[in-house]
Amino acid sequence: MTLSLNTREEGLATDVVRSGDNSMVSSVLKIALSALGILGIVLAISGGVLYSMIPNLIKKKIDEQLVLAEGTTMFENWKNIPVPIYVRIYIFNVTNPADVTFNGAKPVLEEVGPYTFKETRVKEIIGWNKEEDTVLYHEVKSYVFEKGLSAGTQDEIVYVINVPLLGIVKVALEKVSALIRPFFLPVLNSLFKKYKEELFVKRLVRELLFDGYGVPLMKDLALLAKPFIKIPQLLPNNTFGLFYGKNNSRGGTLSVFTGVRDSSKFTLMNTWENK
Ligand SMILES: *[C@@H]1O[C@H](CO)[C@@H](O)[C@H](O)[C@H]1NC(C)=O
Ligand SMILES: *[C@@H]1O[C@H](CO)[C@@H](O)[C@H](O)[C@H]1NC(C)=O
Ligand SMILES: *[C@@H]1O[C@H](CO)[C@@H](O)[C@H](O)[C@H]1NC(C)=O
Repeated sequence: MTLSLNTREEGLATDVVRSGDNSMVSSVLKIALSALGILGIVLAISGGVLYSMIPNLIKKKIDEQLVLAEGTTMFENWKNIPVPIYVRIYIFNVTNPADVTFNGAKPVLEEVGPYTFKETRVKEIIGWNKEEDTVLYHEVKSYVFEKGLSAGTQDEIVYVINVPLLGIVKVALEKVSALIRPFFLPVLNSLFKKYKEELFVKRLVRELLFDGYGVPLMKDLALLAKPFIKIPQLLPNNTFGLFYGKNNSRGGTLSVFTGVRDSSKFTLMNTWENK
């Protein structure tokens, strides 16, 4: 009995064949495309061999392309990845929550979704290091709900397992010593009662995902648990959402080689978080 969350990421290639082409052209195009596909495979296999065989002049030309420098297409494509990434989320909705809570029935799950979000990754340049031949940046990820690629809206109601509550119980069982547990668990239970926390929560899809929802119990819990265990803030802002805080979030600082001096190092990772 778990909240099953299934995310699938997939990149969609941009259209190659546009509508309106007559069938002759498109069939030629198809052949050309499949030929290119085969060529691609051949190139991928023999790329190393081929690369070492081509004349130095051409090699030099290719090397010139393999650099990250402001104003180049390569740089723009690296900085703002042009292929959209779609994240599809399916949620298991419990359709008989009361029956489970009060009568111990087996939960009946219904898969709802997908709720689809378009993920955009943009690299923010912090600085260039000419001596090291590197560029320092972080990546910002943002998500936009795609109504047309979703089966429902973010304002639908779902009943799901109370993840924060399960989290607290799990921490209590793992971190609180067996000796103290008999004293701690009843306190925890009364806290659940006080805040009317139940095994299932009724939430909007948006609250469960990116918006998050407040869990007031969390604040009290930290105070209460203090004498027993030192717990870090379990939830940021005492708010729970599977992707809370992820929209427009900034990843760690990265540094990669630009390939200006040595193209074999092009976009190779240099450091992560300045390590
Ligand atoms: C989830 O189940 C409840 C019934 O338990 C229903 O009212 C609700 O509409 C369902 N949500 C979705 C998105 O189907
Ligand atoms: C993410 O933030 C942007 C801009 O602040 C907003 O337009 C978008 O709706 C947000 N996405 C989600 C899933 O809330
Ligand atoms: C917590 O709240 C503060 C102030 O409203 C906000 O700046 C911060 O981004 C929030 N944290 C997360 C993880 O969203």
